[in-house]
Amino acid sequence: MITKKLFGTVSDNFNYGKEVYAYTLANDSIELTVMEYGATILRARVNTPAGWRDTVCGYDALRSYEEAEGYLGAVVGRIGNRICRGKFSLDGVDYSLYINNGVNHLHGGKRGFDKKLWTATVSDDAVTFSAVSPDGEEGYPGTLTMSVTYTLTAEGGFKIAYRATTDKKTILNLTNHAYFNLAGEGYIGSHKILIDADRYLPTDDTLIPTGEIKSVKGTPFDFTEEKLISEGLEADDNEDIVIGGGIDHCLVFADRGEGVKERATVTSPDGSIVMKVFTDRPCVQFYSGNFLGDERYPFRGGKPQQRRHAFCLETQSMPDAINHENFLDCTLSAGEEFVTCTEYRFSVK
Ligand code: BGC
Repeated sequence: MITKKLFGTVSDNFNYGKEVYAYTLANDSIELTVMEYGATILRARVNTPAGWRDTVCGYDALRSYEEAEGYLGAVVGRIGNRICRGKFSLDGVDYSLYINNGVNHLHGGKRGFDKKLWTATVSDDAVTFSAVSPDGEEGYPGTLTMSVTYTLTAEGGFKIAYRATTDKKTILNLTNHAYFNLAGEGYIGSHKILIDADRYLPTDDTLIPTGEIKSVKGTPFDFTEEKLISEGLEADDNEDIVIGGGIDHCLVFADRGEGVKERATVTSPDGSIVMKVFTDRPCVQFYSGNFLGDERYPFRGGKPQQRRHAFCLETQSMPDAINHENFLDCTLSAGEEFVTCTEYRFSVK
């Protein structure tokens, strides 16, 4: 069942006064609400024996999504994460992107895909958001035509399917920036987590990968056996944790061939919700919400926004890949199609 409701009206200069609709996909186990602005996940409620529980953080008002910096639940791109100094070259041409994060370019720039008003198409069981990013937008080459489809799965999850084509070679790293808290609120440290990643990308103090692809063995980033998030997050004797201000790192999945694989399992502090992440992407940016805490933008229902009270598992490719020869290819050429999907699947006790 899919229902549609007005969420708000845009107040920025680009789409001033336009109405933004939210769509709720619901079955007996899960209720997912997504909206046209940013193709954003507003809410994901899971049905537990003790009642429905919020698992994804959101704001009450559209204005917060327009103004705040956290990219809550949004589709981010054209390049998710950072590009060093906003510079790259592709086929001998140098490109300069908007600098919006210290000295770097982050999540698509001044007006990334999180600020786009996407067009919704609703079918029996899916909501698809479509948008075009013009050639030169935020400094990127090529007209990018894309869609993001949300569906509920029979196994108790929601799936995000991305598609994109370009008319000229470009770079692309789309992901979703949902902030999870399986307890609904509170410090995330007591969630248990397992991630099928045997390597990670250390960063410099501007959070740009140094270029090294390092084994997680013996580091706080080793989640190959289930452990508390706090065990990694609070390892403040580790240089990479200190530099990153916590966990804010790209973890590289173990090589298990092509296709969708189960890559992460997170258990709520009370053990009543288990979330599994399935994806065909090669990496995940595990972000422990270190920069949350902007008091001007409380979460749903007036809950204070607090540092490390939510985490993101942004399935993607390697950040700043275009500037590192040893990183995975992030280019998309004319005639190719970018097709990828990620499912967040919940089970309850
Ligand atoms: C990044 C963080 C950044 C956050 C913005 C994450 O994907 O890894 O460094 O601050 O997005 O909300």
